[in-house]
Amino acid sequence: MSARQCAGEGLPGAVEPVGRSAAEDPVHVRVRGLSKSYGDHVVLKDVNFDVYRNAMNVILGSSGCGKTVLLRQLLRLERSDAGRIEVDGCDIVPLDDLALLPIRKRMGVVFQDSALLDSMSVFENLALPLREHSPELRGDAVRRRIVDTLERLDVDHAVDKLPAELSGGMRKRVAIARALVTAPTLLIYDEPTRGLDPLLARSVDKLIATTNERFHVTSLMISHDLKSVYDIADYVSLIRDGRIGFSAPRDAFFASSDPYVRAFVDASGVRFGARGR
Ligand SMILES: Nc1ncnc2c1ncn2[C@@H]1O[C@H](COP(=O)(O)OP(=O)(O)OP(=O)(O)O)[C@@H](O)[C@H]1O
Ligand SMILES: [Mg+2]
Repeated sequence: MSARQCAGEGLPGAVEPVGRSAAEDPVHVRVRGLSKSYGDHVVLKDVNFDVYRNAMNVILGSSGCGKTVLLRQLLRLERSDAGRIEVDGCDIVPLDDLALLPIRKRMGVVFQDSALLDSMSVFENLALPLREHSPELRGDAVRRRIVDTLERLDVDHAVDKLPAELSGGMRKRVAIARALVTAPTLLIYDEPTRGLDPLLARSVDKLIATTNERFHVTSLMISHDLKSVYDIADYVSLIRDGRIGFSAPRDAFFASSDPYVRAFVDASGVRFGARGR
């Protein structure tokens, strides 16, 4: 199946997206029966969850439970053993790299540690995904798009700097700008606050929450940081024993009497009062 057919763009014999159209479907990404093993090490087994459109969705789990492996499946960086990953109603699991291009254009990723290319300026770091996904943009239009995106994240003054010249908070802003520069509809963060001091972690939380609102994107955050989850999540899914063990809107999650959820929340040592957002 080609991506054009998958997107139902009116080719003869186009395959309609499964279920409702993207505009009216509150579910942006639907994962069903997803499994992944390495040899006989089963990491994910029959994972099922939904990512809600224009909301802040969080996947939570203890270290080594398979969060990054799950992210790699969602981005199609490696083959899954079984299951479906429907993005806007289209199952992306069977698609090849060429067919995945337009889907990837609509997904922005903020990797852990920002993952900026150190030998390139901020401008060049943002120009790379634009060249790959928006080749129609040239010259001045490329610069305008890059500066506009940096401006919206209050970091346009860094456009000609090298990553090494930036503070941790600025690097994170630039990493988010790089994910947003191709105007994606889905933004995925892998552990955005890991390794940051508590003050910077809270300011990154605020930045992620504002980005979600300002850019009208769906956000999916992989995290183990209960404080972040409490402050910014709309929906929470908890990985347990290779499966999604519990999935609920944020308030229901924190109020849950499920023993595993309670153990997870209580072990975090965070006292939950008013939302810090
Ligand atoms: N390429 C691979 N080959 C073999 N095993 C792997 C591979 N990638 C991950 N694993 C295993 O899968 C399990 C889950 O790893 P993963 O990196 O997803 O954990 P995580 O939940 O992201 O942990 P953390 O919070 O520490 O980042 C681990 O036991 C890991 O050793
Ligand atoms: Mg990880």
